[in-house]
Parts: sequence; structure tokens; C-alpha cells
Amino acid sequence: MITIKNKVAVQKMTTAGGLLSDIIDRVAQLLRPGTSTLSIDAWIEMQMRNVQLVPQTKGYMGYRHASCISVNDEIVHGVPDAHKIIQEGDLVKIDVCAAWKGYCADMTRCFFVGKPASTQAEQLVKVAQQALDAGIAKAVVGNRLSDISAAIQQVVAPHGFGIIRDFAGHGIGKRMHEEPEILNYGEPGRGPLLRPGMTFALEPMITLGDYNYYIASDGWTVKTKDKSLAAHVEDTILITEEQPKILTRCA
Ligand code: CO
Repeated sequence: MITIKNKVAVQKMTTAGGLLSDIIDRVAQLLRPGTSTLSIDAWIEMQMRNVQLVPQTKGYMGYRHASCISVNDEIVHGVPDAHKIIQEGDLVKIDVCAAWKGYCADMTRCFFVGKPASTQAEQLVKVAQQALDAGIAKAVVGNRLSDISAAIQQVVAPHGFGIIRDFAGHGIGKRMHEEPEILNYGEPGRGPLLRPGMTFALEPMITLGDYNYYIASDGWTVKTKDKSLAAHVEDTILITEEQPKILTRCA
């Protein structure tokens, strides 16, 4: 069942999203060559606690961190590590989900450490962002869920980039992951009709190569099989009577 959020739930998710996006805006200043992903995670957790945000990944199925930090060919669920040191040119995806007074927001941003390693890398990130924006634009009353999925695919496909198929966007609210699952590809016009008060986390994951992946020996980190570069961006949105409201771009 897809839950419809009431006014109080929406207010709390809006606060969660605003606080979270403020943290992610400020994390950029930490991303210098030589920094470990564990130290970035520690900073993020401290910033969350400062504003009463409760990280939702910590304790989730045994995951032990407040963020997922995925570098270069790591697609998602990168485990922060003291020995993982970011370098000039790296593409770093920072994914955070936190609750404020019991309601969640979930977001991911791409960052380059210094200058991007290549113009292709830059293009990949740009297309991921365009795909997310195209998906969000379809998140309006009267559309069906898969209109979002199709819009994402339509932006990515012409570039020949891979679209990860086994991970997807999701409903969000009291819990980080709620129904429905929102694929990043598919035919339009399928699935439930979108209604005001529905809240989704949309999160295209794309690669310079194909969609095959494997899970690293840490049991979490999802990496491209062909070692190609991956991009991932995510926002939490609210369906309204008018345009969708992006809860994680309101810092
Ligand atoms: Co998510």
C-alpha cells in the first residue's frame, strides 16, 4: 500500500529534507585529496545529531554508518572506511537518509574531488541529474508511477549509459523504504495513479558501461562489473496538486 501523508507528516519530512540538504551542501568543503570516507561519515553523523536528525542507515540490516559513500566504480552502498582515501578527480556519491521526529528524507549527491577526471565523467553526472529532474517532472497528479521510470530511461538511453536494474527508488515516510518500488526504466502508463500526499525517493543509478554489478567482500558496496564509472543522485519528493515539491533541495 502506498501511504498518503497528512499535513504533520509532510511538515516533518520537509524539515528532515531541509536539514539533510543543508548538511550535504556543506559536506563539499571536506572533499579534499587525502580525506578518508570514514572521516566524512563521522562529520555527517555529527552534523545530523546537532539538528536532531536520526540516521536511518545506521543499524539497518547490520549496516553501521550514517551515510553511504561510493567512489568511482562503486555504484551505491559504499561503506565508509578509514583506509578509503579520496583522490583528485574522484567521483564521490554521498547518500544519506535521516528522520526528524520520526519522518525520513533520503538524498544523494555526486561530487568531484577537485577537477573531474574526464569530460565523460562530467557528462555522466550531468545526465544522471537530468534524468532525475525528468523523473521528478513526471511526478504529477494524473500520471502513473511508471511515467517517472520511463522519463528517467528516456534521458539516459540516448547516451548509451548503463542503467542499474536491481536497485530502485522507493516510497518513503516513517520508514526509509516504503512501497512502491520505482524502477529507473520501463514502459510509461503503468502502475498506480499518483495522488497528492504521496512521497517518493527517486534515485537513478547509471554507468559509463553496462548495468552488471557485483557486491564487494564487505557485503554492501555495489560495484560495476566492468569497472566503469557510476553516478547516482537522489531526491525525496512530495506529490501535490501542482508541481512536485522537492523536499531535499530546500536548505
Ligand atoms: Co533511497
